[in-house]
Amino acid sequence: MPLSEQEVLDALRHVMDPDLHRDIVSLGFVKAVSIDGSDVSVRVELTTPACPVKDQLREECEARILEVAGVTSASVEMTAQVRQRQTPQGDLIPGVKHCIAIASGKGGVGKSTVTVNLAIALAETGAKVGLLDADVYGPSIPMMMGAEAERPFTSEGKIIPIERFGISMMSLGFLLEEGQAVLWRGPMVAGTVKQLLEDVAWGELDYLLVDLPPGTGDAPMSLAQLAPLTGVVIVTTPHHVAANIAGKSVQLFRRLNAPIMGVVENMAGFVCPNCGEVSQIFAGMSGEELAKKLDVPYLGSVPLDPAVSAAGDNGVPSIVSDPSRLQSASFRAIAGKLAREASIIAMSRRAPQPV
Ligand SMILES: Nc1ncnc2c1ncn2[C@@H]1O[C@H](COP(=O)(O)OP(=O)(O)O)[C@@H](O)[C@H]1O
Ligand SMILES: [Mg+2]
Repeated sequence: MPLSEQEVLDALRHVMDPDLHRDIVSLGFVKAVSIDGSDVSVRVELTTPACPVKDQLREECEARILEVAGVTSASVEMTAQVRQRQTPQGDLIPGVKHCIAIASGKGGVGKSTVTVNLAIALAETGAKVGLLDADVYGPSIPMMMGAEAERPFTSEGKIIPIERFGISMMSLGFLLEEGQAVLWRGPMVAGTVKQLLEDVAWGELDYLLVDLPPGTGDAPMSLAQLAPLTGVVIVTTPHHVAANIAGKSVQLFRRLNAPIMGVVENMAGFVCPNCGEVSQIFAGMSGEELAKKLDVPYLGSVPLDPAVSAAGDNGVPSIVSDPSRLQSASFRAIAGKLAREASIIAMSRRAPQPV
C-alpha cells in the first residue's frame, strides 16, 4: 500500500508546540506533505523565525514520520510566517505585525541598551525588524546605533527610516538639530509619538520595537491608543527601588489593556573582565522572583558587563561587537522568548477570549 498523506499527518499530530500546548497539525503549522515512494518531506511553518525550539521540533517531526510503517527517509523544512496582530480601523502602522513597547519604571536601567540588542537579535534570525525611539526626553538610539550624524530624507511625503545592522529605525534625535532642547508638554508628546508612527515609511515589519520614555507618562498612553500593542516588556535592575517601580508600570499597562510580555532583568551580575566569572552585586529581588510576584513571564537576565556600556557608547551594540560574550547569548535567548510570547498572544487573539 502506498503511503498516504493522512498517515503522515496522523504521526505529526503527536508533535506538540510547547508554548501553545496544541499539536502542530491542529494549529495549522503543517503546510505541505510530499511523498515520493518511501521518502517523505514536509514543510512546517512556525509563527516566528526566532523560535527557540525550532531544531527540537524539527527533530521530533522527523522521528515521528520515521515511525510510520514504510517510511525510509524524512526531511522536514522549518519556515516561519509571523502572525499579524489585530489592526483595527485607524491603525497607523497596518504593515507592522507586532508592535512591542519596551518600558521601565525609571531611567538608567538599560532600557535603550536592551531594546537595540533585542532588535538586532530578532533581525539575526531573519525577521524584519524596526526600532522606534519614542523616548522623547532622551533619544539615545541614534548614538547607540552609530547613526548620530544621519539625517533622514523624505519620499512621497513620508520619512524614510535609517538602516543600521539590518534594522529600520527612527528617532526624534534624527529630526532635532544638535543641542536643540524641547520643553515637552503632554499633548506634544502624544503628537510626536503619533508622527513617528504615521509619518514614517515603516513598510512591512515582523516586529517594531518601541523604546518608551521611562515611567508611565503620555507616550505609553498614546502609543497604546494609536497602534494596538502586542504587548510590553518591562526592563528592571535587581535594585529594590527599580523592582518596586516596575510593579507600578505593570499595573498601568494592564489598565491600558496591553499585555505584559515579560520582565527583563538588566545588570543582573557582574562579569569579571579578567576571568569572566559572574558575581552578584545588588542584593535586591531577582528578575525571576519579581516576575513571579507580578505574575508575568520572566524573559531573562543580562549581566552587567563594561563591554556592554563601551559598545553602546561606540555606536556598535554589544551583540554585534562582542557576539560570543555572555550578554549576547542572553540577548538572543530573551529575543527568542519574546518572539514566542508574541506568537502566543497573536494565536490566542484569533479566537474570542473571555475577558
Ligand atoms: N548590562 C549592562 N552592562 C553594563 N552597562 C550597561 C548595561 N546595560 C546598560 N548599561 C549602561 O548603562 C547606561 C544606561 O543605559 P541606557 O540603555 O541608556 O538606559 P535607559 O534607556 O534605561 O535610560 C548606559 O551607559 C549603558 O551603556
Ligand atoms: Mg534610554
